[in-house]
Amino acid sequence: MSDPLLEIDDLTVQYETDGGMLTAVSNASFTISEGEFFGLAGESGSGKSTLAKSVIGGLDDNGQISAGSIKYRGEEIQDLSESELSERIRWKEISWIPQGAMSSLDPLQRVSDQALEIGNVHTDLPDEEIREKLKETFDIVGLQESRIDNYPHQFSGGMQQRAIIALALFLEPELVIADEPTTALDVIMQDQIFKYLDRMKAELDVSVLLITHDISVIFESCDSVAIMHASQIAERGTTDAVHANPRHPYAFMFKEAFPDIREPKRELEVIEGHPPELMGDVDFCSFADRCPWAAPECRAGAPPSEPVNDDDASHVTACVRKDEAYELYQSEAAPTQGETGGQSVTQMGEVD
Ligand SMILES: Nc1ncnc2c1ncn2[C@@H]1O[C@H](COP(=O)(O)OP(=O)(O)OP(=O)(O)O)[C@@H](O)[C@H]1O
Ligand SMILES: [Mg+2]
Repeated sequence: MSDPLLEIDDLTVQYETDGGMLTAVSNASFTISEGEFFGLAGESGSGKSTLAKSVIGGLDDNGQISAGSIKYRGEEIQDLSESELSERIRWKEISWIPQGAMSSLDPLQRVSDQALEIGNVHTDLPDEEIREKLKETFDIVGLQESRIDNYPHQFSGGMQQRAIIALALFLEPELVIADEPTTALDVIMQDQIFKYLDRMKAELDVSVLLITHDISVIFESCDSVAIMHASQIAERGTTDAVHANPRHPYAFMFKEAFPDIREPKRELEVIEGHPPELMGDVDFCSFADRCPWAAPECRAGAPPSEPVNDDDASHVTACVRKDEAYELYQSEAAPTQGETGGQSVTQMGEVD
């Protein structure tokens, strides 16, 4: 892996709502390098799609980047106009498979015509070359080349999803943002899609930001991972480091909430409660109300992301109790509410 491709630095994204400014992403930072597969995981509502949309200029009208920066190949892109983003960045540099992408195929147009439309707007390539490129990517995602002239209804759901992936890939972008690309599919099809994503990594040398609530998928297919809880990145690092040595209570509980082929007999964790809806600045740990190990300082400021091992920025966590929480969890010695001084701490596991 080499130069940084995408650098998100201290990014805060908010939505204007009737109740005030809702914070969907709070001071998030991470970098995706060339050729890297980066997974972004977290429960529903944690801000994953908002973060992705802010990169590609696709925030809803009531959304705004309130602070921080997004750099693509060193250039700040968060303030680019709609037309600049469309001309220079979208499809050619960064393509996006939006959440619920099945509905993004136009049912009245052949897939090849949809590709021609995109190709004609974003490149100077002649039509025949655009068709050739689409055929090549159809092949990569396991669709017959001859089917580029099909209408969407002629495909099964899994094939439609692969056609969408092919459309995201055929202009050879540097970075593909795939937001829950397999959610609507059965397990076998999900597995196949990930095989195609792997093939894409090998053959096209593309970087991927893979967004999913299913962290086991990320542990299997990504180089790095960030785990988000209610707008904040709780923990981030190489997949191996986060898998082997998670430090933030949300990170290890979330990890343990999913099956792991390496530990087939383990019981799955249940994280009690729901992520809060956050209005205004988030100047506390957003997991504090659900965390069995919350201490008063967790609510006294947003915990900074700090290296798990001294000076090693490849694995960071935003927990003031990073040096002790995992051991406490493993020994099932979660402190009671009274001991922590917290107000609404949820007790996990068995209590006498
Ligand atoms: N247009 C909007 N206006 C107001 N609030 C919004 C808007 N879009 C999203 N939100 C809120 O922002 C927060 C983050 O939403 P987001 O869609 O980014 O989460 P997510 O992690 O992608 O969830 P999921 O896994 O369900 O897709 C949620 O509280 C959501 O209700
Ligand atoms: Mg989403």
